[in-house]
Amino acid sequence: MARSLCLNIGNESRKKWVVCADFPPMPRAPLPSSVVSLADLAALAAANIERTAWDYFRSGAWDETTLARSEAAWRELEIHYRGMVDVSGRTGRTTLFGREIPCPLLAAPTAMQKMAHPDGECATARACSAAGLPMCLSSLSTTALEEVRAATTAPLWMQIYISQDRGFTRDLVQRAEAAGIEAFAVTADTPVWGIRERDMRNGFRVPDGLSIVNLERAGGPTGHSGVGIGGALSWTIDSTLTWKDVEQLVSWTSRPIIVKGLCRPDDVRAAFDSGAEGAWISNHGGRQLDGAPATADVLAGCAEIARGLGTTIVDGGIRRGIDILRAIALGADAVAIGRPILWGLGAGGEEGVARALAMLRGEFDIAMALAGVRSPAEIRQLGSGLVRRQT
Ligand code: FNR
Ligand code: LAC
Repeated sequence: MARSLCLNIGNESRKKWVVCADFPPMPRAPLPSSVVSLADLAALAAANIERTAWDYFRSGAWDETTLARSEAAWRELEIHYRGMVDVSGRTGRTTLFGREIPCPLLAAPTAMQKMAHPDGECATARACSAAGLPMCLSSLSTTALEEVRAATTAPLWMQIYISQDRGFTRDLVQRAEAAGIEAFAVTADTPVWGIRERDMRNGFRVPDGLSIVNLERAGGPTGHSGVGIGGALSWTIDSTLTWKDVEQLVSWTSRPIIVKGLCRPDDVRAAFDSGAEGAWISNHGGRQLDGAPATADVLAGCAEIARGLGTTIVDGGIRRGIDILRAIALGADAVAIGRPILWGLGAGGEEGVARALAMLRGEFDIAMALAGVRSPAEIRQLGSGLVRRQT
């Protein structure tokens, strides 16, 4: 394999490894034992990842108020812990779409993971596999979905943008189902791309040598031709989408559909009315509508509608295991993490993602013990008796 296949993007002095679509993983030092929190992983990743890619990963839209608020809002929720509860038999076990997982945690879809580490989506998949936790693959992945499926025995879901070319999207969903994708998350918050100003300033484009492989089609650009996510990937989304398109998507597959990117109870109801089996409360990590509420602020109302109708997932600003407990108490069945996976990848590929998942799982376990609860079901049952907004 020729080294010339490797990309050399950006600032040479910051770059610890090259991004390359077709090159064996480089040997890397084990993560230092001083890396004990997600913030530590983020600091390592920031030093390793090429600057324009790092800016793409970290950005929110416009003034990034939703991004900042999404992290802060979890921390405002107090845990009114119980004392003298025997928590020795506690478990995080949860069942999602018929599969048991050890902790109510999964990897959210994030695009172009090979920009964070040459092993990209396969490293994430292997780390999720070892942890037994689900991964949701972005349709804008830099690895073919079949290759990612082969890298994990844990549940693998795929995120879908319904594109302007409906036939292409139908074929992709059916190809993914045939490959063993177990559920689909259709993104509802992206009728147009949000404005991320760092990407505009940087003239961010999909790096040459990386490919949005699942979306390649005859005669269509796959992302290299435009600047910014909007310019680069315009045909992959469609501003005409309505709930009828969710109904159509449901008709294309026997797998569960989850609608991702909701913040309103009436939209949660509409998702289930359209045949979805899951509602994913998300503001896209603050990357779409700046001014959208933090998910911690809208989760309870949304989960109340979903109760009895289907599964509730939430993401946005989850940075500690205690945030998982907070989200479950507000009614979520599971939480997803976006940027923390990229931090793990950037810090140390598969090992870094494994560390990110292990940190959150370990923290959640300790959080349950200290809060005097023994299972996600018990957390949910206690609800506002356990977790309340500061007064
Ligand atoms: C995303 N997200 C996202 N969502 C989606 O539906 N399809 C996608 O391709 C992507 N791509 C993507 C790239 C990057 C760099 C980020 C940071 C996010 C949104 C993602 O699934 C999730 O909703 C948020 O990342 C959750 O917020 P946190 O955990 O990053 O705070
Ligand atoms: C993003 C898209 C890919 O947030 O979802 O950049």
